[in-house]
Amino acid sequence: MNYSIKNYIQQGKEIVEQKLSSLYTDTNIPENLKASMEYSLLAGGKRLRPILLLASYHSFKKTDEAKTLRTAAALEMIHTYSLIHDDLPAMDDDDYRRGALTNHKKFDEATAILAGDALLTNSFELIAEDELLTAEEKVFLITELSHASGPEGMVAGQVLDMEGEMSTLSLEELEKVHEHKTGKLISFAIIAGAYLGNATETQLTHLKKFAYYLGIIFQVQDDILDVIGDQEKLGKPVGSDEENEKSTYPNLLGLEGAKNHLSAYTEKALQALQEANIEQSYLEQLLYYFGERDH
Ligand code: IPE
Ligand code: IPE
Ligand code: MG
Ligand code: MG
Ligand code: MG
Repeated sequence: MNYSIKNYIQQGKEIVEQKLSSLYTDTNIPENLKASMEYSLLAGGKRLRPILLLASYHSFKKTDEAKTLRTAAALEMIHTYSLIHDDLPAMDDDDYRRGALTNHKKFDEATAILAGDALLTNSFELIAEDELLTAEEKVFLITELSHASGPEGMVAGQVLDMEGEMSTLSLEELEKVHEHKTGKLISFAIIAGAYLGNATETQLTHLKKFAYYLGIIFQVQDDILDVIGDQEKLGKPVGSDEENEKSTYPNLLGLEGAKNHLSAYTEKALQALQEANIEQSYLEQLLYYFGERDH
């Protein structure tokens, strides 16, 4: 990873975290619920989805980020809710997340479920009440975000992932799991940033293709890190997939095979990105980072 993208990611993280930490300063949310929501939301994730949204916007030579910030925060809220629920005993049953106890371990299962519900619903409210967006923009973004998160999006992927436990999925089936459970929210980041950057239909089509490969790449690297990653750096347990008998790229293709798959998909993503005809360096650097990250 070169120095400038590292800086770019750090700057994006700071902008996003400032927004996230300002969300619940003045609300009537019951104290324990608010504590549970903020516990996970402000726990220090990498913030890569909102950063990707900003990068997609910047690729259209836009600099006024304010217009994207509520949408970026809403995306991170949905991602955080998905992690809280993903860690529950009924799902992956994990005890650590983002370097701390998982939400249901710190609080209790009911509170964790409800904190997830609250982050999910509140995310749409955040966009609906964004004074910097037109009514048309709000409808587009809410429609895309609910589709990406819902029963044909991330939730579908989580269901397919659970159904795939203890059975060996084909490569094609596994790609479908990844496309949905991880790829859909990543695609939303790209689509939302490009839309707010006034992308043409043709550009959106190419960027959707780019985002498809990027989403798979992100999850393949997540699966690789679940085998060879450093628990301290990751802030979550390694070996969770094996314990739950998940189908993953490393266990279907072997570690080398999974890494080769990453390289092949990086090439495909790059081709799609080039066809979008934008200032591509932000997304190109993030693409390399997604496949090389160690946490
Ligand atoms: C973890 O996502 C869940 C997946 C979809 C692989 P991240 O690796 O982005 O987790 P945080 O947000 O940094 O905690
Ligand atoms: C989770 O995939 C994807 C979500 C939608 C939350 P994983 O189960 O592999 O994510 P981690 O490894 O627990 O972060
Ligand atoms: Mg899972
Ligand atoms: Mg998990
Ligand atoms: Mg994982």
